[in-house]
Amino acid sequence: MKRSELLNGFEDVFGYPGESVFFSPGRINLIGEHTDYNGGKVFPCAITMGTYGVVKKRNDNEVHAFSGNFPEVGLLSFSLSDIEYKKEDNWTNYVKGMIKYIQEKTHPLEHGFDLYIYGTIPNGASLSSSASLELLTGVIVKSLYNLSISQLELVKLGMRTENEFLGLNSGILDQFAIGMAEKGKAMLLDTNTLEFEQVPVDLPEHKIIIMNSMTRRELVDSEYNTRRRQCEEALAQLQEVVSVDSLGELTEEAFEEHKQVIDDEVLMRRARHAVYESIRTEKAAQALKEGDLETFGQYMNDSHVSLHEDYEVTIKETNLLPHLAWDQEGTIGARMTGGGFGGCCIAIVENEQVDSFINNVGESYEKEIGHPAEFYIAETEDGTKEWVEND
Ligand code: GLA
Repeated sequence: MKRSELLNGFEDVFGYPGESVFFSPGRINLIGEHTDYNGGKVFPCAITMGTYGVVKKRNDNEVHAFSGNFPEVGLLSFSLSDIEYKKEDNWTNYVKGMIKYIQEKTHPLEHGFDLYIYGTIPNGASLSSSASLELLTGVIVKSLYNLSISQLELVKLGMRTENEFLGLNSGILDQFAIGMAEKGKAMLLDTNTLEFEQVPVDLPEHKIIIMNSMTRRELVDSEYNTRRRQCEEALAQLQEVVSVDSLGELTEEAFEEHKQVIDDEVLMRRARHAVYESIRTEKAAQALKEGDLETFGQYMNDSHVSLHEDYEVTIKETNLLPHLAWDQEGTIGARMTGGGFGGCCIAIVENEQVDSFINNVGESYEKEIGHPAEFYIAETEDGTKEWVEND
């Protein structure tokens, strides 16, 4: 994306030049899915696909916002004195939520701003376009008004926006990955303590391929909230016999010893996924640190099977892609990534096999599903920040 294109986009909409440019990445989660609201481990990295924003302060207290991706939606505006959720405010609800909570945390903003955004993350692809926009807003507002608020606070307010403003009871994975990332690294994050370690993702002989199923099921949010509730119920039953605050604290042995107290087979499987996935994530990150990519890939595959069988968050399309990937020469591992019910899968593939991988998986997928998948090579990226001229 060119800076000049973004600045032109701003000027076309607002009729005067924009001032500063910001970038907020998307994310992939290498492993550790549906563990973040269970006090478990996650292992995401930020990617170069993301959301750009051009801004300039206004003199009144309004925010005017335009997305180059949705020109048909037109210019959306709201006043800083009225920042409640409104369906018709469309994508600016994420902006509103962030502003609302930042004001609560700091002080009321004196002026609004004009905002032009352009995103390169495909919509509904489970690559966190919403968290990307939340952090973009946070970093913009912090910079425009010189607020003393840390990046970690913004990460937490992003999650609060999702939970309280939008009603999705998600964990902190997406906002943390996007806000705290370092290029060339993935973060092994303990969602219980928020302690984390930046682990180099140094794969000179491999590529991480994102496979977009180009499918999204309806009711994703309600299914997501249901999974979270099921884990909470399973935890409550386990807490009658074992003293833990979250599923992420259980060892495999402790879970196997006590799982019979869970009175429902579905709840037991949900909890089993959460417990094993968190442990798997820690072991996988360790394998990567030791340069043992084969073992890392095996954990990715195990993660996928668990998400399919125990957690049931795959759909036909996102279960097919890893299976096709596993059949290809040069595949180290493959799994769905993100919340599930559609969206993207990822695979680690040997450099020389990337072209044939994309051809073969793409062809078989289209034959079976009836529409094509999309493929992107993932590149890691830094967390949300201002894009200064000489970058
Ligand atoms: C979505 C949520 C995250 C996380 C993942 C599953 O991306 O926003 O908090 O729960 O699903 O790992």
